[in-house]
Amino acid sequence: MKKTVEDSRLMRYLDERIRIRALLSFLLDEPMPGGARWAYVFGSMVFFALILQFVTGVMLAFYYGGTPDHAWDSVNYIDHLRYNNLDVGRLIRGLHDWGASMMVILVGVHLLQVFLWGAYKRPREIMWLVGIVLLGLTMTAAFTGYLLPWDERAYWGTIVGTNMIGLIPVIGPLLKSVIRGGTGLGALTLSHFFTIHTMVLPSLFILFVAFHLVIFRRVGPAGPFRGSPPTLEAQKEFFYPRQVLMDALGMLAVFVIIAGLAVVFPPGLEALANPANSSYNPTPAWYFDWIFELLKMIRPEILGVLGLPALIGIVLILLPFVDKKPERSPFKRPLAVLTTLFVLGAMVGLSVAAEAGYKKMVVLDQGSVLKGKVLFEQSGCLGCHTVMGKGGNIGPDLSEEGLVGHSEHWLEVQFVDSSKHFKDSPMPKFSYLKPEQLHELAQYVSSLGRTGWPDPTK
Ligand code: HEC
Repeated sequence: MKKTVEDSRLMRYLDERIRIRALLSFLLDEPMPGGARWAYVFGSMVFFALILQFVTGVMLAFYYGGTPDHAWDSVNYIDHLRYNNLDVGRLIRGLHDWGASMMVILVGVHLLQVFLWGAYKRPREIMWLVGIVLLGLTMTAAFTGYLLPWDERAYWGTIVGTNMIGLIPVIGPLLKSVIRGGTGLGALTLSHFFTIHTMVLPSLFILFVAFHLVIFRRVGPAGPFRGSPPTLEAQKEFFYPRQVLMDALGMLAVFVIIAGLAVVFPPGLEALANPANSSYNPTPAWYFDWIFELLKMIRPEILGVLGLPALIGIVLILLPFVDKKPERSPFKRPLAVLTTLFVLGAMVGLSVAAEAGYKKMVVLDQGSVLKGKVLFEQSGCLGCHTVMGKGGNIGPDLSEEGLVGHSEHWLEVQFVDSSKHFKDSPMPKFSYLKPEQLHELAQYVSSLGRTGWPDPTK
């Protein structure tokens, strides 16, 4: 610290009362192994993005009404809050909205770096685990926040998202109805999501971020992956001043990017959620696209008892306990690098496929849907499939099959020859159906779930 600041009257006053010198020295005089460097700024960037979410979130909560009757109106009101000819309301919402996407990206980058740098290895296994919890909290925050504006996008995105949870074998259906607070989305879902988003998650965030940082200060930064333990020489540089400056600039960059996006692309608000609107093409938030696409491919039970996100979670949790080799350099861990490339490539590829799929989503025509419904009932499909609580359970529940995102072609192949998709499928081949009948059946199946369930609280 600078001499003048250190000897100022304020400093002496505070030091006598709260021992500020020891505190500052504890905070700032952390040795940086290998010296200050840009590679160390990512954690601080995530931290800053989180603080920004807290601040803008509290501001929004002042004006938000968390019931289906008021949510949309209150968000619309926020969007029209002006001050000195400035759309402050929309700006704050933009910061929060883009901040959420940014957090998902930054947490991803941070995780990726820790993985590639081998920084999760002994003795940082517990810090890694806490990081995985924070990743889970981030995704849950993004997921629950998405519903709050209660517009068409929010409503249908959450229908699709919760439907995806329902596809998890064994526990999925129960999980889905617990999360929704009933069969459909309604007042209960919104208040569940609002409470989780504004009360449960922030408390957990504070707890686990504190935990993450306390461990960080106890085991110290992992340091560069090259060379063995930091030499005395390398210990000479402390957190203050150079690393503090770099971190501050990193945070500033985060703010500039989020603010820039919020100004240039302010978040939109679609029409009020309408559960009866079957012409809306429901899609999940972009960061869930790849899971959406994967679920389309891996149905049914191929993964056994585990849903895909659960499987990824388990791999991440076990990682530091399975991979015990001390080698940290990515240049000497080809498997780690190749897995990363493969996973990233797959995620991007799947997301692109999902986005392309949304454009090709079956456009419903009410006449065909109705004819398809009759065919469905006459062809004995209900003997094996349940729709809206009625039918058999040899095959999967089709109540929300229209949200899974299959193309018309996929569905028609499914009706004619199920074994093309599922080995040894017990589903009969409906090859006697004429092309237009297949079309009508596909129309009906694609409509399932695209008109909402009634709100149980009304
Ligand atoms: C004998 C029982 C049986 C009958 C009858 C039956 N299905 Fe199926 N169906 C299944 C099973 C089982 C599956 C799951 C795939 C598998 O394991 O073969 C399935 C899968 C499906 C799927 C794919 C679900 C997905 O997204 O993975 C659709 C769509 C479907 N059936 C529609 C129909 C329609 C429409 C009819 C009537 C024309 C019908 N099924 C009749 C047993 C049946």
